[in-house]
Amino acid sequence: GRPGVGRAHAKAILLGEHAVVYGAPALVMPMPELTVTVHATRFACPGDGADKISFAIAGQHPAPVTPLVTDGLRYLVEKFRERAAVTGRMCADVLIDSGIPQGRGLGSSAACARAAVLALADAFGRPLDAGAVYDLVQASETVAHGRASGIDALATGATAPLLFRGGSARELPITMSGPRPADGVFVVADSGAGGSTKEAVELLRHRFEQDEQIKEAFVRRVSDLTVAALRDLEAGRLTGFGAHMTENHRLLRDLGISTAPIDAMVEAALAAGGLGAKITGGGLGGCMIALAGDPGRAEAVAHGIEAAGAVRTWVVPVGRVRQS
Ligand code: MEV
Repeated sequence: GRPGVGRAHAKAILLGEHAVVYGAPALVMPMPELTVTVHATRFACPGDGADKISFAIAGQHPAPVTPLVTDGLRYLVEKFRERAAVTGRMCADVLIDSGIPQGRGLGSSAACARAAVLALADAFGRPLDAGAVYDLVQASETVAHGRASGIDALATGATAPLLFRGGSARELPITMSGPRPADGVFVVADSGAGGSTKEAVELLRHRFEQDEQIKEAFVRRVSDLTVAALRDLEAGRLTGFGAHMTENHRLLRDLGISTAPIDAMVEAALAAGGLGAKITGGGLGGCMIALAGDPGRAEAVAHGIEAAGAVRTWVVPVGRVRQS
């Protein structure tokens, strides 16, 4: 029959990464232009009685930093059987076609897991509700990343920016595709270096175990920044929003989550007229994000970041939904 299909996309955290693992709120936006599509094609199970799910990677994308088929994805298949109450044997070829760069803090692991769950659900005729999809993606993320807040599991399926806290999220009245002209433009830039979210989360866990006060101060300060930034966003105060992003970067940098190339890209974004800039995602490499207030500034900000070493940039316009 026809293969089951699942899709998901990348995400970029605007404020609050790492602190969100300890209960702080975080702001995140989907990046619908970076997608992963998974096809799951069932075949007749061979006679040896076992399930057979084989994973393969499609396309000519840059060589993966980490293997795309993780223990998390294999674990997901087991959990899928339970949650979807599949009684017969499960045999399928699962083909992952991902345009999301890996190990860059853009949510590629959660997006692959989400697309795989949706493809399996489709192939085996077991539609899952949003809560079940989230739980399965989270189960896979926990194996792949250790401690995961759940922000990637939700944001990789969201159509609007989210305020995430403690495992649930509220959609913000912000659109990604209009109105035109956009109120603001985010520039996301890849440093070209892989960063392990798992290692970054571990690094902070050790640091916080040694000194509880550092943890409390970090979580409180990031919470305050995120709440203040949310108010700015809702009121259209982009300058304030940007300043809170940059402050959030300094807190992450002081804890050792940034790298020299990312710091240089942040400085370059600000020098080019960006309203704010910071590392985004797990850190220790990966990506940074800048806010260019006036959409006309986006190109200059992107060029500035590229001149400082970015290997790739994405421009993401956002606009407030106006109440009429
Ligand atoms: C990863 O996108 C964000 C982190 O806060 C980890 C998590 O929340 O699971 C670094």
